[in-house]
Amino acid sequence: MGAILDGNRLVLGTCYYPEHWPKELWREDLERMLKAGIEVVRIAEFAWSKVELTEGNFTYSFFDEFLDLAEEVGMKVIFCTPTATPPAWLTEKYPEVLNADINGVLYRHGERRHCNYNSPVYQKLSERIVEKFAAHYASRPCIIGWQIDNEINCGINQFYSESDNRAFRVFLEKKYGNLDALNEAWGTVFWNQTYTDWEEIHVPRKTNSDATNPHEVLDYTRFISDSARRFIKMQSDIVRKYVKPGDFVTTNGIFANIDNHQMTKESLDFITYDSYPNFAYCLDAYRDVPGEIRDRKWSRNLAEVRAVTPVFGIMEQQSGANGWNTRMEAPSPRPGQMALWTMQSVAHGADYVSYFRWRTCTVGTEIYWHGILDYSGRDNRRIAEVGQIHEKLQSMKELAGSIYEAQVGIVKDYDNIWDAQLDVWHERVDRASQPALFQALQLSHTPFDYVYLNDDTDVTEWKKYQVLFYPHATIMSKEREAVLRAYVETGGTLVIGCRSGYKDMNGRCVMEKLPGLLADLSGTDIPEYSFIAPDAGKVTIQWGDTELEASVFTDLLQPIGEGKQEAVYTSDYYAGSGALISNTVGAGKVYYYGTAFNTESARVFLEKLNVISPYRDVVHAPTGCEIAVRRKGADQYLFVLNYDKKPAQIELCRKGTDLYTGQEVSGRIEIDGYGTLVCKVY
Ligand code: GAL
Repeated sequence: MGAILDGNRLVLGTCYYPEHWPKELWREDLERMLKAGIEVVRIAEFAWSKVELTEGNFTYSFFDEFLDLAEEVGMKVIFCTPTATPPAWLTEKYPEVLNADINGVLYRHGERRHCNYNSPVYQKLSERIVEKFAAHYASRPCIIGWQIDNEINCGINQFYSESDNRAFRVFLEKKYGNLDALNEAWGTVFWNQTYTDWEEIHVPRKTNSDATNPHEVLDYTRFISDSARRFIKMQSDIVRKYVKPGDFVTTNGIFANIDNHQMTKESLDFITYDSYPNFAYCLDAYRDVPGEIRDRKWSRNLAEVRAVTPVFGIMEQQSGANGWNTRMEAPSPRPGQMALWTMQSVAHGADYVSYFRWRTCTVGTEIYWHGILDYSGRDNRRIAEVGQIHEKLQSMKELAGSIYEAQVGIVKDYDNIWDAQLDVWHERVDRASQPALFQALQLSHTPFDYVYLNDDTDVTEWKKYQVLFYPHATIMSKEREAVLRAYVETGGTLVIGCRSGYKDMNGRCVMEKLPGLLADLSGTDIPEYSFIAPDAGKVTIQWGDTELEASVFTDLLQPIGEGKQEAVYTSDYYAGSGALISNTVGAGKVYYYGTAFNTESARVFLEKLNVISPYRDVVHAPTGCEIAVRRKGADQYLFVLNYDKKPAQIELCRKGTDLYTGQEVSGRIEIDGYGTLVCKVY
């Protein structure tokens, strides 16, 4: 893909804000970057006013001057469209562009991402500025690609403005054609919600409790995704009219309420991600992973990125302490951690890594969001570390373009992700199972991929997975069941957890025997089910000679057809009911497990299904290390990442070439605290 992700090199970049610094600093900054091994800068994603300071008056000289300099010194540039932060004149003159909260209160100027994608005015003005940016700058030789917007759906991913109401109705009319179909899909007969005019329909509004029509909310989330995707596509179509051959179009980040796969397919060449592993230590959202592997939760995020495009870029990689002026949270990376986290990104498939940001800003909301350099810009240990990282990446460039290797997958789909956001039961089982699977996989050195399921998924892409977990396939369609069946028939093993198959695509509960569309495939019937009552104590399961503990929920199972009872509940009134059914289908097997996963049960599945620790013949490493392998043809590149501050002793059971040193290595090796080993193994 032109200058980065070309399959030949691993490239470093940084985020730079020419508008934040006196012009006299630009040359020195660019030259220092190049010296440290940084070849690319990303610019302009918040710089609308630098080109259109007042409405309709366009001046290009600011970035022309910067690009002249970039060309003179030999710096490559990723140029951005600036639609994440509209200018003050725009929101003041056209308040209808503003997004609103669920009570209809407008979000005012001062933050970012405060507009709504559906405002015709915002669309028109965004279209115009994107056209102006692209038409004027895209032919510049230093530009290698474009970033559309910035972190679409970050921070705010719900929209309640008047324009959203209108666009929601259009979306629904297109989807359902008539109100009868919508009323049926949303079950509006319940509580007198039957609609007789499209104008009666609104984006969700405040009710007298948090309860609202769940089928409407599911469609509303699909609508948000659709709106965001249309906004990105509108921009990408414009930019593509002007880009030079070989230049790419991307965007950064993976955020909620957006089908990132579809967005990438229709608008981008690849996805990039913003990786801030140290947030693991300070944001509540990340507390579901035990302390010692918290920054490895980013490995989970990187697996999500890889599910969109197997080889990708990191547009923002943490290089300093992070936090806004209102919250100063993520500590500074300790010596070695910048390199560790860079290698974490590379191990998972990043061939481009760009640090956020070059200099720490001295003004505004992000004065505590540190970059490589502090406020003074003096040389420091972090820029020295960038130099060392660059040297390492140079010496391991042969692995560029290689693909992360995994034999285990976790199946996901957007409908179930969105259903779990609004359905507390779905959310609770998912909240238990997803981190449990991640921990069991991570701690046993079992690499995995996220695998996304659609009605039109090409199942041949799933052949490489020996085992797929689909923890809670609550929403199911005939088409998706057919994809799962095809995977199993050709030899795959599918493990489904509780609460599966009981909703249709509208989120309505089905009237069939559970697990509904999955009953035949799993050879399972669920005559009874229950949340594990708070006073139930430990609910145990016996699987052969292994005892497991049920989590959160119990589906009480009975085999049907060729289904075989593998495990039973052994406590409370559930005792004797099936807890695990297996069903042989074609050359493969389906398991229905009647509860949510915990770390131990997930580990036992990996072990019994014989997919645990696939590299145990290659390397032995403590749990404080992550193991990853990227493969290119017959070449296997092993990454051992030590997240511990103490050195780790590992044993390389094969011979390998340490790519940092070019030396042959094998046997006992000590990896420094926060150190990494990357070697080609034979
Ligand atoms: C990212 C964002 C950047 C910057 C950084 C620190 O999420 O893309 O623009 O804001 O976080 O807040």
